[in-house]
Amino acid sequence: MPAVVLIGSQWGDEGKGKITDYLAEKADVVVRYQGGNNAGHTVVVDNQEFKLHLIPSGILYPGSTCIIGNGVVIDPQVLVEELEYLEKRGICTDSLKLSLRAHLIMPYHIRLDELEEERKGVNKIGTTRRGIGPAYMDKAARIGIRLVDLLDEEEFAERLKRNLDEKNNLFNKIYETEGFEFTEIFERYRGYLPKMRKYITDTSVIIHQFLSEKKNVLFEGAQGTLLDMDHGTYPYVTSSHPVAGAACIGAGVGPSEINKTIGVVKSYTTRVGEGPFPTELLDEQGDFIRRQGHEFGTTTGRPRRCGWLDVVILRYAARINGLNSIAITKLDVLDNIERIKICTAYDYRGEVLTEFPASLKVLAECKPIYEEFEGWMADTTTARCYEDLPPKAKMYLERISGLIKVPASIIAVGPKREQTIIREAIFTR
Ligand code: GDP
Ligand code: IMO
Ligand code: MG
Repeated sequence: MPAVVLIGSQWGDEGKGKITDYLAEKADVVVRYQGGNNAGHTVVVDNQEFKLHLIPSGILYPGSTCIIGNGVVIDPQVLVEELEYLEKRGICTDSLKLSLRAHLIMPYHIRLDELEEERKGVNKIGTTRRGIGPAYMDKAARIGIRLVDLLDEEEFAERLKRNLDEKNNLFNKIYETEGFEFTEIFERYRGYLPKMRKYITDTSVIIHQFLSEKKNVLFEGAQGTLLDMDHGTYPYVTSSHPVAGAACIGAGVGPSEINKTIGVVKSYTTRVGEGPFPTELLDEQGDFIRRQGHEFGTTTGRPRRCGWLDVVILRYAARINGLNSIAITKLDVLDNIERIKICTAYDYRGEVLTEFPASLKVLAECKPIYEEFEGWMADTTTARCYEDLPPKAKMYLERISGLIKVPASIIAVGPKREQTIIREAIFTR
């Protein structure tokens, strides 16, 4: 009966989709609570690969209800395309629910995201250019348009007109480019409604119903702790809160409802986009990990920056998210590396830092202090229980848990469902 929050402990792409899919077998409901289609979650089921951006990864199990909560920003075009993509591949999407309170990504948000990145030049964030930042800006500025507004033709027309007056001024006068036309957007967005209407509801009521019946509720985070607007490597972050605490706000439940928080930890570190990355490997070793781990973005196709595991980051993630369990993924990617390193602290101008610094200037100067391990040089992809793993791989895993003082309840040794080792059951039925 627990309500479990699953989050990314690093800079995203830790394998949250795979772990969510695995846990979804026993989850009655899977809820996304923040972000939008900047997320890219790849899930492999029976040798078929599914790429999801907006719809919770739980959709691939027929039994679970999937909810897009109020904290998510929805691009309706992407949603409709994702629904069609799933239906074409034989996945039933009837269980989907969309929050009335979720904000919409509008075409001008996408254009603004692109223009801002271009304007910033070398100082760009490296966003996914999906309009995420501008959509959350409008939400905070109290001019955003929600699904509930889209349902009301008059309200939608009025809000869209007001927004376009303001945005077109920006496009024309600041960016010296053409603006958007009311009728085109109005018709297009109203056109998505027939495909979306049946899913739109007050999702917090539904989640509470599940909670009151002691059902298994899984909150699926997108992005990762270091991309959080408050706790991440600001300003190189996303515009939402990927940390566990945000599940309450983004789904409409109170903190007392949450029983457990799981952090997904990739066995090494990756990052997409700009910003400092102390353990980054800019050499052949980094290229090797990128190739072995297929570290290319699911959303934008960009090569992911790769580096050794950073425990300073993981201890920070354990604290900020209140982790009581971790899921360590992609262990198999390290199978053929002779010497593996873990960063345990930073050297900042001769001073040893054990806490993740707030200043990016400091972070950029931090040199990793490493502990070295002998690689296990053996195939882990066929391991199905902990005892199957080579002793040196177990030592690596135990050292990670020991350093962050959080037990590893799940270990992934490949992208497939069955390539998952469970050490502690998360949900029981
Ligand atoms: P997410 O954004 O956190 O859901 O992660 P992504 O889906 O963007 O990236 C993780 C990638 O690694 C996906 O392509 C997964 O199929 C794959 N993956 C997940 N777990 C494992 C694992 O244990 N081993 C390997 N080799 N691949 C994995
Ligand atoms: P998942 O859920 C990795 C990064 C972008 C950029 C920054 C801001 O697949 O782990 P945005 O478009 O959100 O304004 O971009 O955040 N980013 C991600 N990096 N995984 C993600 O999602 C990401 N979503 C956003 O690359 O650096
Ligand atoms: Mg991803």
